[in-house]
Amino acid sequence: MTDSPNAEQVTYWNETSGPKWVARVEQLDAQLAPLGELVFDRLDPRPGERVLDVGCGCGQTALQLAERVGPSGRVLGVDVSAPMLARAAERARAKGAEHLDLVEADAQIHAFEPGFDVVSSRFGVMFFADPVAAFANLHRALAPGGRLGFVCWREIGLNPWMRIPLMALAGHVPLPEPPAVGAPGPFSFADPERVRGILDGAGFADVALSPVAAGLHVGGGVGGGVDGAVEFLLSIGPVSAVLRDADEGTRATAAAAVGDAVRPFLDGPDVVMDAAVWVVTARRSG
Ligand SMILES: C[S@@+](CC[C@H](N)C(=O)[O-])C[C@H]1O[C@@H](n2cnc3c(N)ncnc32)[C@H](O)[C@@H]1O
Repeated sequence: MTDSPNAEQVTYWNETSGPKWVARVEQLDAQLAPLGELVFDRLDPRPGERVLDVGCGCGQTALQLAERVGPSGRVLGVDVSAPMLARAAERARAKGAEHLDLVEADAQIHAFEPGFDVVSSRFGVMFFADPVAAFANLHRALAPGGRLGFVCWREIGLNPWMRIPLMALAGHVPLPEPPAVGAPGPFSFADPERVRGILDGAGFADVALSPVAAGLHVGGGVGGGVDGAVEFLLSIGPVSAVLRDADEGTRATAAAAVGDAVRPFLDGPDVVMDAAVWVVTARRSG
């Protein structure tokens, strides 16, 4: 990975976020699974097909795709995060998914063996330093006529599940400046015109973006109520990043503020807040 043009992200997903994802994987998978299904529904991977899962992380989607293509098909999961891939490999072994391969590589530059029928991703394509180069690489990996599909976040203003807890910290800790437009990160694909430009520039045809709104069960809906949601939000994601260097007292005040902010969204045993994504599809024409 020393030759990666995404060195900062490689470090982040190996040292900072990757271990947190591994520790919280069941919650994250439960939280994100309905959004990943949106992509599978569009791509409709079929038995016998070859599928590439970009930024496969701890492997839930790669395993789901492997189930869809069956043993006559093949899935390759690619990711830069060694700890997340190790978790994915454990899960693949436990399921006996011998037609699932995993590779630790930067999808922007990895020399994939061409001929994939499908390239799929759940929130794994927003972190490239050069997205046009990355998607041109994924375009090369597809067979002529091959399908691309991914899900990415729309703007933070449409994602109160992330915005409201973060705003609750104002006055307790300094909030970070918004990232530069297009800088790698969760919201870098929020602008539909930018996404179209990237995919057009990479050579894709039939680019389509569908907005989808969904109720997101914060922390995967494990039934922990407000306390469970707060514990989850303070352990991973932007709220946890803002509080990284906070002392115990500040963390306690922040936890109370986040709790007050999400309490109105308690729905039975879960905190359920609105989320907004793009489901993006395209095709390699020739
Ligand atoms: C938000 S996580 C999503 C993980 C997984 N797709 C899921 O939904 O559970 C983003 C993933 O993209 C991976 N990633 C970031 N940049 C990458 C790159 N250049 N090449 C391959 N994977 C990358 C990260 O390591 C991480 O696993």
